[in-house]
Amino acid sequence: MKRWLMMASFVVAISQILVAQKFEGLALTPPMGWNSWNTFAVNISEDLVKQTVDMMVASGMKDAGYEYIVIDDGWEAMERDNAGSLIADPKKFPSGMKVLGDYIHSKGLKFGIHNCAGTKTCAGFPGGRGHEFQDARLYASWGIDFLKYDWCSHGTANSEETYKTMRDAIHVAGRPIVYSICEWGDTKPWEWGKDVGHLWRITGDITDCFDCEINHGSWSSWGIINTIEMRKGIRQYSGPDHWNDPDMMEIGRGMTPNEDRAHFSLWAMLAAPLMAGNDLRDMKKEINEILTNKDVIAVDQDSLGVQGLKYSDNESGVEVWIKPLNKNDWAICFFNKSEQKQKIDFDWSKKNISDDISKKTLNTNDFTYSIKDLWSKKNLGTTKKSLRAEIPPHDVLMIRLTK
Ligand code: GLA
Repeated sequence: MKRWLMMASFVVAISQILVAQKFEGLALTPPMGWNSWNTFAVNISEDLVKQTVDMMVASGMKDAGYEYIVIDDGWEAMERDNAGSLIADPKKFPSGMKVLGDYIHSKGLKFGIHNCAGTKTCAGFPGGRGHEFQDARLYASWGIDFLKYDWCSHGTANSEETYKTMRDAIHVAGRPIVYSICEWGDTKPWEWGKDVGHLWRITGDITDCFDCEINHGSWSSWGIINTIEMRKGIRQYSGPDHWNDPDMMEIGRGMTPNEDRAHFSLWAMLAAPLMAGNDLRDMKKEINEILTNKDVIAVDQDSLGVQGLKYSDNESGVEVWIKPLNKNDWAICFFNKSEQKQKIDFDWSKKNISDDISKKTLNTNDFTYSIKDLWSKKNLGTTKKSLRAEIPPHDVLMIRLTK
């Protein structure tokens, strides 16, 4: 009898280890960090990553909440070794990934890496297909905390099943790793991703322009406005531990300061992961100030975890975005995407602002809210009076309402 009992507990223990699941609770607010791809593509190195780590700390970005240093495509040697293990390019990363991870961790940051669910990464390096469990063990041994998993060269593979295989491999390897699904929204990851990963890309690759499509033949990259407009009706799928991801940020990479400010504000309104993509070693003061605006970051990182929505398309020529926040606060972002400055005259008493997903309503008739401008830091009065302002082209007025 006792033997049967022991056998039964053994089976239960094994099935618990093998039960398919993601590591829960690793991304209760949208992940924040830096990723090498937007600026450096495959031209990455150990020196670059270490300098970026140092700048993340020195610039105040770490204190503002940025956490993950993610090495994107291009870190690998062209072939696996004889045992089938991935190896880091010995020229780019001479000390190896374990040592680099130790450096990142010693500065209080976390270590992210990129690979691909297909046979090759988009830049042609070895992909993970067929090696998932072996790779996950290797990542765990290197101290990886974040895995971005791409979707090039996937052939006829089924996305949900393929991403689940890597999820299970990570789970069995035993190290909690934030799992970032990057299949560009092609197979609606918002419908199946919640139990698989912590975030999923909803769009193709972003590029550093405000409003453009760059056609690369078989695929396009997209400006800020194009990215925001691309997916409709999926905000209900985003929330704590499972975020819609409109891609890494292009702030500090060539747009105007107004555009960078608008880009950052909108990502915060969308509760998007905040992954900087600029060269931190060469960051102007105004860019640093945008990326570390704690009031805007607080909107993104709000514990309610509700993705904001567009309230109106054309309020005196500007879009109005709203986001319910914890403790019945609201963030409102007036977004002037036109080429001219625009005046707003927003009469709170005539607006019916509510969110059918979070079931929150902004009631300015029974309650008075104070208004803080999250960029100028000025107090703009209360909701008792209409809000009047002028917004420069491609810029925002972003405010927080507090009861
Ligand atoms: C895809 C991803 C990008 C980047 C590149 C690397 O295009 O969407 O974010 O990771 O691959 O090759």
